[in-house]
Amino acid sequence: MNNGVREDGNIIHKPVLLEEVCQVFGSFALLNNQAQKIKPIIVDATIGAGGHSGELIKRGAYVVGMDADREMVKIARENLKKLTCLTGNYNDFFTIINDNFVNIERALKDLKIDMVDGILFDLGISSYHYTFDRGFSFQDPESPLDMRLSGDQQVTGADILNALPKKQLADMFLKTMPYRRSIGLSKAVLEYRNVKKIEKVGDFLEIIEKVTPLTYRERRKISNSTLPFMALRMAVNSELENLKIAIDRSWHLLKQNGVLVVISFHSGEDAVVKENFNNLTRSGEGLVSGKFVRPGELEIRDNPRARSAKLRFIQKK
Ligand SMILES: C[S@@+](CC[C@H](N)C(=O)[O-])C[C@H]1O[C@@H](n2cnc3c(N)ncnc32)[C@H](O)[C@@H]1O
Repeated sequence: MNNGVREDGNIIHKPVLLEEVCQVFGSFALLNNQAQKIKPIIVDATIGAGGHSGELIKRGAYVVGMDADREMVKIARENLKKLTCLTGNYNDFFTIINDNFVNIERALKDLKIDMVDGILFDLGISSYHYTFDRGFSFQDPESPLDMRLSGDQQVTGADILNALPKKQLADMFLKTMPYRRSIGLSKAVLEYRNVKKIEKVGDFLEIIEKVTPLTYRERRKISNSTLPFMALRMAVNSELENLKIAIDRSWHLLKQNGVLVVISFHSGEDAVVKENFNNLTRSGEGLVSGKFVRPGELEIRDNPRARSAKLRFIQKK
């Protein structure tokens, strides 16, 4: 199995830290609170295949799901409609919007929802993305190096590699890679594009292979391509910038005692979350209990994608 895609072609996206997410929302009495007449509203800002949302619905939440990727919205809707706990109209249990989470305020306003009880961000991409032929997977050299979550975005991964000056390329790779490898890779990109335009996943793989020292290749547990591909995807989708804006906007949409939960998969993402949460506790607006939650050994063995996950949460005072 690779990235949640089985050899028989079926995809399994296993939601990361599922029980922990439900426990966090549950421990703040948002879920399973029989005394509540109205269902708590939880925004799943990254609904993906709907794994977390499904469980939140089962435990009594009304879910507003968002995803920038139209394909994922279709998948989530189909998956959630199959929940056996849905009685009657599925609109009474969830609604899903195809939009970037930076637009969370506008999305809720359109639904005439002022404030919500909880918001969840499970960052990055879903296992399904590796099957989309949009350049997310380095297992597919013939795929166009696209990497856009939404067709509304103008700039692809190939556009970035073909256009950015050397310094900016190095800065982009630095977000996920060590200094010397970032400089080496940015030089190699320039050398390649001086001869030939970068178009496909295979072109980027060739560049990465050229600059990866043998010793480094042997030492790494993950593929040499994982970090360069992640850096490019993060740039294409302005992931760190959007996360910063979205946390800020989400905070204003939380009710008193509402909870914001973020699962990150990379130190750059976690740094954004940590800094924002620290600012909110320092200003007296938020309460963070404990540090962060990581998946246990069993979950990592069962779902290797979980190995770098970190969950942080903050409650609004
Ligand atoms: C890790 S997956 C979420 C998986 C989901 N929790 C589940 O259990 O199935 C992240 C999802 O967030 C979406 N996404 C990433 N960045 C986004 C953004 N800025 N706005 C909206 N959706 C985004 C991706 O398209 C992907 O489907």
